[in-house]
Amino acid sequence: MIIMAIRLLPIVVGLLAIIGRVDCAWGIPETRDFVPLSTASTKFSQKLYKDLAINRPNAVFSPFSAHVALSMAYLGARGNTANELRTALQLTPEIEVHDNYQELIDLLNKVNDVTLDIANSVWIHPDITLLEDYKTELVTKYYANVDALDFSNPNGPEQPINTWVAKQTRDKIRAIVPHGVLSPSTSLIIVNTVYFSADWNSGFNETLTKNKTFTKQDGLKVQVEMMTQTGRFEIKESVVAGAGVLRLPYSDERFAMYVLLPRTFSGLPDLEKTIADDDFDNDMLFNDFMEATVAVSLPKFQFTASMDLKNTLKKLGLSSAFSESANFSGISATKTHISGVMQKAMVEIKESGTVAAAVTEVDVSNRSTFPAVKKTPFTFNADHPFVYFIRQDSSGQILFHGKLSDPQMEKMEAS
Ligand SMILES: *[C@@H]1O[C@H](CO)[C@@H](O)[C@H](O)[C@H]1NC(C)=O
Ligand SMILES: *[C@@H]1O[C@H](CO)[C@@H](O)[C@H](O)[C@H]1NC(C)=O
Ligand SMILES: *[C@@H]1O[C@H](CO)[C@@H](O)[C@H](O)[C@H]1NC(C)=O
Ligand SMILES: *[C@@H]1O[C@H](CO)[C@@H](O)[C@H](O)[C@H]1NC(C)=O
Repeated sequence: MIIMAIRLLPIVVGLLAIIGRVDCAWGIPETRDFVPLSTASTKFSQKLYKDLAINRPNAVFSPFSAHVALSMAYLGARGNTANELRTALQLTPEIEVHDNYQELIDLLNKVNDVTLDIANSVWIHPDITLLEDYKTELVTKYYANVDALDFSNPNGPEQPINTWVAKQTRDKIRAIVPHGVLSPSTSLIIVNTVYFSADWNSGFNETLTKNKTFTKQDGLKVQVEMMTQTGRFEIKESVVAGAGVLRLPYSDERFAMYVLLPRTFSGLPDLEKTIADDDFDNDMLFNDFMEATVAVSLPKFQFTASMDLKNTLKKLGLSSAFSESANFSGISATKTHISGVMQKAMVEIKESGTVAAAVTEVDVSNRSTFPAVKKTPFTFNADHPFVYFIRQDSSGQILFHGKLSDPQMEKMEAS
């Protein structure tokens, strides 16, 4: 008798690119109450941050992408393994996660003044038969492509997967699955991609971008290309650990980048300790702003990170899922377990935007529903380490989360 170790390898891909593109229209009808799901995924995001970002100079990851991909694994998990995944994903009993994602993916894929493409695919070993129910739910709830792994492909079985990912991410992410990772004992791979590309609602003028000093955590000074603009923005001061938050909306204003900036160059560790604390509700970072005139300075930067999330997820309570005792009996009659969870994410922050809007300060000010209007501009100068979020505000989903404390570092590979 031959006993073959059959494994399950979900791979998670997150991607962000901000490149120029403008058109108009409001896409998402706000139908379902996505709050319970977003509360869960914000908590999940906070826990990922603790492990993926705190001890690293820079970070970018997509909590949304990881949550979606693991939810697809959860769909086929049973018994103990289902409990572990539910706990790790911070799901409470009232959340119908699969139905929620069906609606959310449907809605988010339809926004049309920013580009947000969410795509899922599942690749199976030719010897494995997916249960019909699982396959049906993957297709109807997650709009997943289901395809067979081809171990006879001369370029390796990963090639069609990488080609698919490159297509979904418009070539921003190419080799998500390195050569040699897949072996004939790999039974199933789950891939989620998120491609986001949007203009700022108020773009930065490229001619104002200048090399300026950025002070790192340890006091060392380096040069960065700093983008600047003065305009009406939503801001709040001293929100947590003395840090301020600035909201920079995209052309569809239900998408925004939130920059969380400590008061001093050495303030990030205290801030991170606070926001990563289990008792701290990250959702409070996104509410109760006031609108004011703000002189904004933000580094132009890009950062790519490849991460193996397995150890992080173990800390969140996944254990049987990675072992022989995994129960994925809802996926296939053949025994499977998760062998790895990888994510590759990329962020690119630059000037482009509807530059016209940048100068129409007055238009913006008239929309204000906030009482506090300060005459002297606020200064929001991100010339030292900060934390950021890219969030879809109407669903509360954090698409990307990261930090920048070393602007000269553009890449990270970590496990
Ligand atoms: C998986 O969980 C289901 C539901 O709890 C249980 O009936 C089944 O026996 C378990 N299978 C394995 C292989 O543990
Ligand atoms: C950018 O700034 C320069 C210099 O202040 C100015 O001449 C130019 O008109 C600005 N461009 C736009 C598109 O506002
Ligand atoms: C900033 O400095 C770098 C390196 O000297 C240079 O390549 C770049 O063009 C400068 N950027 C600006 C906006 O001056
Ligand atoms: C905008 O605000 C200004 C100053 O308060 C006011 O004079 C003007 O009528 C407002 N415009 C609109 C369209 O509400």
